[in-house]
Amino acid sequence: MGFALPNAYVALSDLAAARGVAPEKYTEGLGTLAMAVPGPDDDTVTLATRAAADALARGGISPDEIGFVVVGTETAVDHSKPVASFVQGHLGIPTGARVFETKHACYGGTAGLFSALDWIDAGRARGKKALVICSDIARYGLGTPGEPTQGGGAVAMIVSESPRLVRLDGASTGRYSKDVFDFWRPLDSKDAKVDGRYSVECYLDAVRGAYSALRGLEGASERPASARFAAMLYHVPYGKMARKAHAALVESDGETDSTATFSRLVAPGLRLPSVVGNVYTASLYLSLLGLLSSDGERLAGQAISLFSYGSGSCSELFTGEVVPGAHESLRDVFELVARREKLDVAGYEARFRARDIRELAKTPLESMPSTTPHFHGIRDDKRVYA
Ligand code: HMG
Repeated sequence: MGFALPNAYVALSDLAAARGVAPEKYTEGLGTLAMAVPGPDDDTVTLATRAAADALARGGISPDEIGFVVVGTETAVDHSKPVASFVQGHLGIPTGARVFETKHACYGGTAGLFSALDWIDAGRARGKKALVICSDIARYGLGTPGEPTQGGGAVAMIVSESPRLVRLDGASTGRYSKDVFDFWRPLDSKDAKVDGRYSVECYLDAVRGAYSALRGLEGASERPASARFAAMLYHVPYGKMARKAHAALVESDGETDSTATFSRLVAPGLRLPSVVGNVYTASLYLSLLGLLSSDGERLAGQAISLFSYGSGSCSELFTGEVVPGAHESLRDVFELVARREKLDVAGYEARFRARDIRELAKTPLESMPSTTPHFHGIRDDKRVYA
């Protein structure tokens, strides 16, 4: 796995003060301490490319070994050209690869992950590996209830027959999908539209439905989830949502108090999302990345569960086993995250607006950014990267 985050963040206590809200509403009520703030040079492509390059570097894997590239995103940069093609170009992935993009709100990356698992299970990989990237910028309007649940970033995963981090069970998964209007991003709007409290209900229905489907598949004799898994991960639009989801899931097993199992099984996976915010497709995998970094050694050989939810909706509850040594390539994750620049609210709002201006600019900037890849602007209706 590898990851990429914008290089700056805003503290939610500062945002609360600026919006005239009690800071505890965001830090405790939502369970988020800070959110990543993308700059004008960041977009889904740059974040995906950086995360993928990071995953290849951490794994010591050459682009030539990749035969399948999928980017799950709900922050597409084009109706036709997939983010995955830009990534292929930037990283020099061979022309024999299957390259595409998937969309289903925050579930889009999981759809890509299962496509990769199926490709491998079907024996079509022929020694090649799949590169699955989740890349998104979560965006609501300034001053809206959704504002404190923004964020941005990307997580990349290399999927192969011989996993080094987590051995996923692609067969035993519980799914729940339903046509609902809880959260959406109309084609003519950059900002997400959301029926906030309804979206929470839809998410909770999905977690119950997916768990029921998993139990139906595996038979009723299984132990309760809290006894079976050493860690339980959820899609994290904000930490409190994962807390509510966990309570709903264990309640299905007849457990009325989820406090202790939340602290033991869920909280360790929320550390990283709590300082990054919502990253839509990448949120569940950011939680996994943080968990492996901080607790991978302790979890070696143990089973974990992962719940992916995408508004609209589709969700999947699946399981995996942590491979011994999984933490080794991810030791520095929290150290890197701590190096980000802290913005005040004026700085955050300036970046928010600067991204729109860069998207609308029809001529690329004069100056070349110092590191690559950076979104440079639009020339001849084509996106230009430096
Ligand atoms: P809101 O209506 O402003 O907040 O927006 P609230 O009034 O519901 O308060 C939030 C929590 O803070 C409550 O806790 C309050 O009690 C508590 P709860 O009752 O839920 O346990 N609170 C306080 N706590 C401590 N001290 C205080 C205090 N005041 C209040 N002083 C909402 C909240 C989540 C609706 C809003 O932020 C929003 O619309 N966010 C975007 C939608 C979202 O994230 N939905 C989550 C489920 S859907 C999903 O996960 C999919 C998604 O990622 C998209 C995709 O799939 O692509 C969004």
